[in-house]
Amino acid sequence: METFAQRRGFLITIDGPAGAGKSTTARALASRLGYAYLDTGALYRAVAWVVRRAGIDCADVEAMETLLSSVDFHVSLDEGVTRTFIDKKEITGQLRSPEISRLASTVAALPYVRDRLLPIQARFSREGGIVAEGRDMGTRVFPEADVKFFLEADLETRTARRHREAVRDGHPETQPDTRRAIEERDANDRSRATAPLKPAGDAVVIDSSSLTVEQVVERMLAWIPGHS
Ligand code: DC
Repeated sequence: METFAQRRGFLITIDGPAGAGKSTTARALASRLGYAYLDTGALYRAVAWVVRRAGIDCADVEAMETLLSSVDFHVSLDEGVTRTFIDKKEITGQLRSPEISRLASTVAALPYVRDRLLPIQARFSREGGIVAEGRDMGTRVFPEADVKFFLEADLETRTARRHREAVRDGHPETQPDTRRAIEERDANDRSRATAPLKPAGDAVVIDSSSLTVEQVVERMLAWIPGHS
């Protein structure tokens, strides 16, 4: 009898710190496999976006819970893009500023934010044929994933990549600022009590520091049944 994965495609997860190359690699891998690409960071960025718009303090638990329960979050998977909607309004293009990045890392440490976003992500496990990218894909959201990767890179490499992206996206900042922001976010993401960033016990760990995107994708394909 065919398994679920054979019929619909595998569920593949990629976790790792900022700048390790998750998005580029996840997109490239999804495209090679003809799979959908799910960027779950977009949801945490969307929460940051609504918090900023509402002008509330994210330490105010009651205000945060009221806000989160009154907002409709929706994502739709387009080719290589996770389109993000708040109350049916698309905000995909407004989520990459340094300010939203910082605030996203802060709200991502709040357990009720993670609980609110969990079902929105977990429903994709029924579909298969997905490459899902984030920080807790293999550990919490999709513990039953078919193949799990954890992508790392040294701090210098990650700083250089993020700095290039920031400049390209019209958010000029100095390299030391980029490095500091990455270190701060890493510390937040790794040390939080709920779903901290760490490799799942059954994840394949790949260091992308001296690899091209194509080389990382080739290494990943070697772990995917029928694609080596
Ligand atoms: O991948 P990204 O930079 O777009 O993620 C934005 C923030 O959201 C990041 O600081 C960590 C957090 N995040 C998370 O905690 N869990 C996820 N599954 C995805 C992102």
